[in-house]
Order: sequence, then C-alpha cells, then structure tokens
Amino acid sequence: MRWFKRKQKAEELGLTDLPRHIAVIMDGNGRWATKRGLPRSAGHSVGAEVFRTIATHCRDLGIEHLTVYAFSTENWSRPADEVRSIMKLLEKYLREAIETMERDHIRLCIWGDTSVLSPELQSLIRTTDDLSQNYKGFQANICINYGGRDEIVRAANLCAEKGLPITAEALSGAMYSAGVPDPDLIIRPSGEYRLSNFLLWQSAYAELYFTDTLWPDFTTADLDAAIVDYQHRSRRYGGVQSK
Ligand code: IPE
Ligand code: IPE
Ligand code: MG
Repeated sequence: MRWFKRKQKAEELGLTDLPRHIAVIMDGNGRWATKRGLPRSAGHSVGAEVFRTIATHCRDLGIEHLTVYAFSTENWSRPADEVRSIMKLLEKYLREAIETMERDHIRLCIWGDTSVLSPELQSLIRTTDDLSQNYKGFQANICINYGGRDEIVRAANLCAEKGLPITAEALSGAMYSAGVPDPDLIIRPSGEYRLSNFLLWQSAYAELYFTDTLWPDFTTADLDAAIVDYQHRSRRYGGVQSK
C-alpha cells in the first residue's frame, strides 16, 4: 500500500497522530489453549497467526516499527516439549516470512541472543537479516531469547570492549534496538500488569496499555482501541507541557 493510501486508511479509522513504534508482549497463548482443552502449542500457533495479522495492520496504518516479545530469556524454564514446539513454530514462521517478505515489503529483524538457538533457526535468521536489508519501510522486530537485563549487560560489555565511555547514547547505540526510536506504546494483553523483562531500557517513557484479551483473541480492532487510548495520553517527559 502506498504512503498516501496508508495515511488515508488511518484517517478513515480516525487514527491520526499515530505512535511511530508499538511494542507488544504476546501473552496468553497457553491459557487460551487450555481453556479450549487444547495443548499449549495450539495457542502458540494461533498467536503466530495473530502476529502476522497485526503486523500487516500496523504496516497498512503507517506505523513504522512493531516489536513483539516471542520468547524470553526466562522462557527456557518451561517444559522441554513446549520449548521445542515454540522453536519449531519460530522456524516455520521465519521460513514462511522469507517467502513473503518481498511481496509484503516487511523488514524483519530478530532481537535477542540468537547464538544458543538451533543451527536451523540461526541460518533462517541470517537469511532474514540479509533479505531485510533491502526493505526500508515498515520494520517488525521479533524478540527471541530476549531479556531486557541481558540486553543492557551485553550493551555495557560491547561499550567496554570498544573502550567507549558508558553514556546513555553509547548504551542505546549498543542495544539490539540501535537506530530504532523508543517504543511510544507498549501493549500487554492477557490481564498481566508487568513488563516481564521486556525493553527495560527503551520503555523509559513508553505509554503502557493493558487488556484482559488473550493474545490469540487479539484483533485489529483491539489494536485500534489501544492506539485511540494512546492518543488521549498526555506525554510530559518530566515536564509540564501537555501534548
Ligand atoms: C506467551 O504466551 C508466549 C510465550 C511466552 C512464549 P504464554 O505461553 O505465556 O501463555 P500463558 O501466559 O501461559 O497463558
Ligand atoms: C512474557 O510472557 C514473555 C513473552 C510473551 C514472550 P511470560 O508468560 O513469560 O511472562 P510471565 O512469566 O507471566 O511474567
Ligand atoms: Mg504468559
């Protein structure tokens, strides 16, 4: 969709003054499946489809960045078969994304410590990175084996290795998110009110939005509702001026 078409679509929905960067903690997959008597992996599968729908919607609205939390540094503590099924699903997702990236013009980046992932997954991530460089428009960042604390420690070590003084700018430049504006809006579905180690550095002035909806039930209308809520916030950044 061309830029003016996107703008038109956002305006039709009454969605002007959009966040540049939306981040989502894709939570509630397991509970969604359990409620239906299904294995937790079924919730993760539906959750991956919802991500696809929401990413396309964000792109169509003209949002520049969407960052999603797919697997945390703490999620390794889950039963081995659940971890295995999530990793298989990520492989499937990336394989399909590589096929459709050219068509959809979505730039896909992976944030997190990928060095411990399977060789298959690492190779798919490399291919995705290579292809992504060609697309300059909408960027989706998928956090895999990602932890906010881990990212900060890694950034500090990178600065130290380069002999850089530890400043906020140097640290920002050494994060997975280097060059990406901080999230304006962080959405957490599933009725939990915490960040669970997500974007700890970048969330300093993010607007937080919580909803009871489980991620597999999350729709484009839910995203629009979160954006409308965001538009009513007064972002003061410690000052007194309202937006
Ligand atoms: C989020 O859904 C997906 C991952 C953490 C991988 P959950 O699997 O945490 O779902 P709930 O919170 O148990 O319902
Ligand atoms: C956060 O969800 C991680 C992801 C969505 C990938 P969790 O389900 O792991 O978070 P907690 O354990 O409820 O805090
Ligand atoms: Mg959860």
